[in-house]
Amino acid sequence: MAQKHPACTLKPECVQQLLVCSQEAKKSAYCPYSHFPVGAALLTQEGRIFKGCNIENACYPLGICAERTAIQKAVSEGYKDFRAIAIASDMQDDFISPCGACRQVMREVRHPFALPSSSAMVVRLPQPCGTFGTNWPVYMTKPDGTYIVMTVQELLPSSFGPEDLQKTQ
Ligand code: THU
Repeated sequence: MAQKHPACTLKPECVQQLLVCSQEAKKSAYCPYSHFPVGAALLTQEGRIFKGCNIENACYPLGICAERTAIQKAVSEGYKDFRAIAIASDMQDDFISPCGACRQVMREVRHPFALPSSSAMVVRLPQPCGTFGTNWPVYMTKPDGTYIVMTVQELLPSSFGPEDLQKTQ
């Protein structure tokens, strides 16, 4: 059940599938230091779902979050346009929220649609691919299947992105 739903772009059954995949992905987490398993499921424009889990390391800073595992898996397999990502953890009473580093990486990916905040309609942009994305949904879940959804823009306002690198030319 959605508790906050500003970017309702996926059919409910698609959301459910993505949520289940994020919970499945969590089972592969390698987190012997934090004991905090996280799973992510990333939906590509083509309809494929890439799963990711957090993978920690004895050299702590080398650990990687579930969200970035999923994004890096997808990009390295040639998928660069994404529609949504779902994240799962074992926290019973709180929705899992992505860290700052993952928000910045989510901000870099391309999204194929413009998502009007006031409407459930999905609107195609004139150039459907290749725009860098702040306006795509992140489903943050609890183990009971409830979730909140926010756009990357809402999670990372006033962000720095690829477009900014063109502004000093
Ligand atoms: N973690 C994630 O994988 N995703 C999040 O959204 C939050 C935190 C991981 C990183 C680390 O392995 C563990 O959770 C504790 O921070």
